[in-house]
Amino acid sequence: MVTLSTTGYGDVTPQSFAGRVLAGLVMMCGIGIFALWAGILATGFYEEVRRQDFVRTWQLVAAVPLFQRLGSGALVEIVRALRPRVMPAGTIICRKGETGDRMFFIVEGRVSVATPNPVELGSGSFFGEMALISGEPRSATVSAATEVSLLSLYSVDFQMLSRSSPEIADIIRRTALERRGATPDA
Ligand code: CMP
Repeated sequence: MVTLSTTGYGDVTPQSFAGRVLAGLVMMCGIGIFALWAGILATGFYEEVRRQDFVRTWQLVAAVPLFQRLGSGALVEIVRALRPRVMPAGTIICRKGETGDRMFFIVEGRVSVATPNPVELGSGSFFGEMALISGEPRSATVSAATEVSLLSLYSVDFQMLSRSSPEIADIIRRTALERRGATPDA
């Protein structure tokens, strides 16, 4: 018990069997009480970090007009699903020919799409939806024209968005079709 609980070998030790059992119990209770508080503290910190992340993502989602059509239930789901990222100017966000498992919404900044006639997309726009919907490789390389704040949505979460808000999924699908038409060799 002394070794297990790392109490250390003291000068005063219990002599009787009952005394040793009692001392052992006290040592184990000590560990239990310490672990309990450590667990409560760790859970508290984790919950606080999650809450702050949720509030931060919520503020970013509010900056994308497309999501203003969502009801409160769907909004909570999408806030949980979206992953915020900030990329410095010049970063390649996705490359032509790669497989695409996610799409991106632009909160702030601009990206450049390297189509034959290059296109710039700004705040409120989205990209990366074509590969996500069709399952085909990325149709163009997209890079950050300025520092850009993005929210990424993975394919499973896009399915969830399609169920909770078919209207938004429709807009995204229609945009993908229009862009495919504008980029025939994609
Ligand atoms: P995806 O093919 O997944 O990856 C590259 C992205 O660039 C593509 O999805 C679209 O989101 C975007 N894109 C391709 N062609 C155009 C276009 N003509 N106009 C705007 N965006 C485009």
